[in-house]
Amino acid sequence: MELKVKSESDVDSWTEVKLIYSAALRQIQTKLEILNEEFQYVHRYNPIEHIKARIKSPESIVKKLKRYGYDSTIKNMVEYINDIAGIRIICSFTSDIYRIADLLAQQKDISVVSVKDYITYPKASGYKSYHMLVTVPVYLTDKIVDTKVEIQIRTVAMDFWASLEHKMHYKFEGDAPQHIRQELVECSKLASDLDDRMLRLNEEILAISDDKETME
Ligand code: GTP
Ligand code: MG
Repeated sequence: MELKVKSESDVDSWTEVKLIYSAALRQIQTKLEILNEEFQYVHRYNPIEHIKARIKSPESIVKKLKRYGYDSTIKNMVEYINDIAGIRIICSFTSDIYRIADLLAQQKDISVVSVKDYITYPKASGYKSYHMLVTVPVYLTDKIVDTKVEIQIRTVAMDFWASLEHKMHYKFEGDAPQHIRQELVECSKLASDLDDRMLRLNEEILAISDDKETME
């Protein structure tokens, strides 16, 4: 039997949606674990600090569909909501972010749909992160479903900042006091400065230990 590649909109129940998106998340997660292990083996360090994966709750999906002006149907969910499956990769250094993004994009079964580089172009809020929307094929018994996964890649410092900013958003429902928003913009700059300095320091440390090894 030949398997047909189908789009996600051919899926028609929430249980099947969840199954497919969770399979897609696991595939990406495994790919990342393999890359991280290989990196440890070849370069003796882990570019990935940790990974968080989640399936968006039905309530949040419905809320977003409403905001976009669509009815709450399974078809609309899979067609218009790009972050039903989301994965967040936390790296030590900014350079690791681009390395991981390239390695993922190079994989044959991953298609990059779009990229948003909020590191080169931070949001006005101060938000920084590298976002990729990709699809990965999920093999089921009778079909292959190309499934969307939203990937966010950021440093520990960017993640720390985003968590606090998210908390603020939640608390004030988007209407936060100006001085808090201003302070967060400044903290974002401090976090970027820390990232830059830690990266330079790491490069210096690596260069010194490389010299030592060649001398030994
Ligand atoms: P959403 O409707 O929020 O998904 O935005 P979008 O579809 O325009 O995509 P975008 O790339 O801007 O944001 C996707 C996700 O990135 C969000 O769901 C958040 O997890 C995260 N994000 C984007 N902007 C911010 C921000 O200013 N602060 C924080 N804390 N997170 C953000
Ligand atoms: Mg989004």
